Amino acid sequence: MPLKVNAWTQWGKLKTVVVGRADFACFQPEEPGFRGRINNKVIEKELNWPVGRKKKSVIDKANSQLDNLASTLSNIGIKVLRPSPIDFNQEIKTPTWKVTHMFCCVCPRDVLITIGNFVIEASMSKRGRFFEYLSYKDIMYSLWDSDSSMKWKVAPKPTMNSDMYWEGYWTKFNDFDKKSKDEQDNLLYDYKYVLNEKEIAFDAADITRCGKDIFVQHSMTTNLRAIEWLRRELDGYVRVHILNFPYDKEPSHIDCTIVPLRPPRGKKEGILLTNPERPLLEKDKKFFTDNNWCLIDAPMPSQANYPMPSFCSSSKWLSMNLLSIDENTVVVEEGEKGLHDLLEAFNFKIIKVPYRDVFEFGGSIHCSTWDIEREDSSQDFFNIESY
Ligand code: NVA
Repeated sequence: MPLKVNAWTQWGKLKTVVVGRADFACFQPEEPGFRGRINNKVIEKELNWPVGRKKKSVIDKANSQLDNLASTLSNIGIKVLRPSPIDFNQEIKTPTWKVTHMFCCVCPRDVLITIGNFVIEASMSKRGRFFEYLSYKDIMYSLWDSDSSMKWKVAPKPTMNSDMYWEGYWTKFNDFDKKSKDEQDNLLYDYKYVLNEKEIAFDAADITRCGKDIFVQHSMTTNLRAIEWLRRELDGYVRVHILNFPYDKEPSHIDCTIVPLRPPRGKKEGILLTNPERPLLEKDKKFFTDNNWCLIDAPMPSQANYPMPSFCSSSKWLSMNLLSIDENTVVVEEGEKGLHDLLEAFNFKIIKVPYRDVFEFGGSIHCSTWDIEREDSSQDFFNIESY
């Protein structure tokens, strides 16, 4: 079957997907837009954030879980494509900056997004990830050759010069707990993150699709200029909505914060999985509920039984970073029993896969995939007058 580019939602029946690979992966390099933090009180005292290649055994374990996801999806009839990793342990140098090495190609979600028959290559927001798109060139050309209606859109490349980043962000929340409620609110609601507005910059994982409407998180990795770029480029195709989550002090990538699972159908409510520690603003909540979406909070993640890996830069909310196969079937990490139970209560079938060895490579199941084709169309699930 020829490849086809078509995805309007997060839940249409999945036909073709990319699953990342961990080969040649390095630690994400520290730079103005990224500070590594070790998730382990003992190691943290003894070690700085590591540089260079990750250990072979760590890469092998991640690859084994990525391969298992790929074969699980293939076995249920989904076509799975894989990236062509480059050697990420190479210096990148431009006229104005350099980093000692790159990161990996485990998370295509951050780099590319399918919207309808467009594939958009994100500008990216971090220096060490500037060239990640190279690992997907072969796939892009396969899609281009196979589907003559595919549109290929590349976002403006940022310089990633130091003046695109606000260094003060890294101390913004110092002594947060000692501040008054008003002072805390001022910090949370000013939406000032490390990436400033000098140039267009975004990661594709800050976008989620609901048919005719897409929602884009303003974050550490996506600025307002980028959201305006998306709005202008996609004008007349999809409606672009900005979301802010003030209680997320370090927002980056929307797929651990809201996950649209199932649309409203007639009187039956749609389901939006939400993060209880990162509530939607009241106006945004109302937009969903006025349009017959039911918001369900994800349960607390299972990290008590499974602590987050020491070199994982993501939060425990990777628990909700799931992949929908269709609007009744989801792939969820095998240890997240609370989430399995909750979703089963809403009549979802759960496919469980082990995935914790992938976490330190930038994310979980949703992050490490990029859906290329779903059985989908440009449907309208929102009455826009209600916004
Ligand atoms: N930065 C977010 C999402 C990561 C995939 C988090 O850590 O929750």
